[in-house]
Amino acid sequence: MWCLALKRLPPDGHFEMNRAAAPCLIAQAAIFLIASAAWAQGSADPRTGAQRNVDALQSAFGTHAAQRRAHPKGICATGSFVGDVAVQRLTRAHAFFSGQALPATVRFSVGGGDPRASDTIPGVRGMAVHISATGPSAQPQHWLMAGINLPVFSVAQPEFFAGLTAARAQGRDALAAWVQAHPQAGAQAQIDAIARNGVPASYATIPYFGVHTFWLVNAQGQRQPMRWQWMPQSVPPQIQAAPHQPDFLAARLRDRLAQGPVRFELWLMHPQASDDLLNPTIAWPWDRPHTTAGVLTLQAIDDDPRSPCARLSFNPLVLPDGIEPSADPVLQSRAAAYGVSLMRRTSEHLGLVPR
Ligand code: HEM
Repeated sequence: MWCLALKRLPPDGHFEMNRAAAPCLIAQAAIFLIASAAWAQGSADPRTGAQRNVDALQSAFGTHAAQRRAHPKGICATGSFVGDVAVQRLTRAHAFFSGQALPATVRFSVGGGDPRASDTIPGVRGMAVHISATGPSAQPQHWLMAGINLPVFSVAQPEFFAGLTAARAQGRDALAAWVQAHPQAGAQAQIDAIARNGVPASYATIPYFGVHTFWLVNAQGQRQPMRWQWMPQSVPPQIQAAPHQPDFLAARLRDRLAQGPVRFELWLMHPQASDDLLNPTIAWPWDRPHTTAGVLTLQAIDDDPRSPCARLSFNPLVLPDGIEPSADPVLQSRAAAYGVSLMRRTSEHLGLVPR
């Protein structure tokens, strides 16, 4: 609410300060200062926090022109998704669960921000999926999902991301010191999960987790929380690429697809009342019930640098009607960070002023 700070005085109609408005003005100034401080810390303005987080990635991994600021090393594949009609009772996103084959694009990636990172290093691997469908009234609908091979993310709030990224880049001791100094960030859970996982042997044979809670909303308006995950159906019969080559993950996927399709099931996990809905560093127990919501079938590698997959930003807030984001602050922050990265890499790609 704005203060009426000026009043018009007769007879010439000039304005003077409205004394009655002074307390209101002081309160307004205080609110402005607090809001500015919050913006400066990146807690209230998603753009500021997003820029700081993307800057942190660039400081840690270098600026690689025209590349994604995170997960720049990746490979795309194309295929289709068939959603189970039974899921229509859970969500009004009926077009995605129609039993029909829908076009799907997938990008597998190595975490971090170095496009030359070796696949032999333990750590985060990504699977980003774009499914498109035709909704009621023939309008196009999109569902973007970007998940990782771990059931937990590295931080509980986006404000911790830059600090953790910087500490990680400084090495093991700095990381340990940062984690100890910031227990509320929740970073230890992902560090432990990476240590348990080791080096993934193939993009095609590991599960990928959405990590955040989303809400399914059905045609009656009933809502229930879920976390999605992609579960691999296929085990490669023969593996050609040597596992210790720095680019073995893309080579193995190529070999695997040459032998036949790769399939993943989409699982919607259902929590119990005690499960955390807002903190992506806290996994739900493994034995929670799930609905198998559909099958993704990958047919071919897409190597075309001009294809939509190479350029797309897999903003996880692009959702069909009937699937809603939770208030998880990390989930909410991702759209702006992906936008900053997209703007930088696209302007570099087009030869505009790089940042
Ligand atoms: C504070 C939190 C996060 C920040 C700042 C962040 C930042 C980014 C950025 C800047 C990109 C590149 C976007 C682009 O240029 O299109 C990216 C990509 C990616 N992120 Fe995140 N991210 C965050 C959380 C997460 C979480 C929670 C997940 C997994 C559940 C995730 C998985 C991925 C994946 C798989 C990609 C690659 C997508 C692709 O292949 O294009 N990120 N992230």
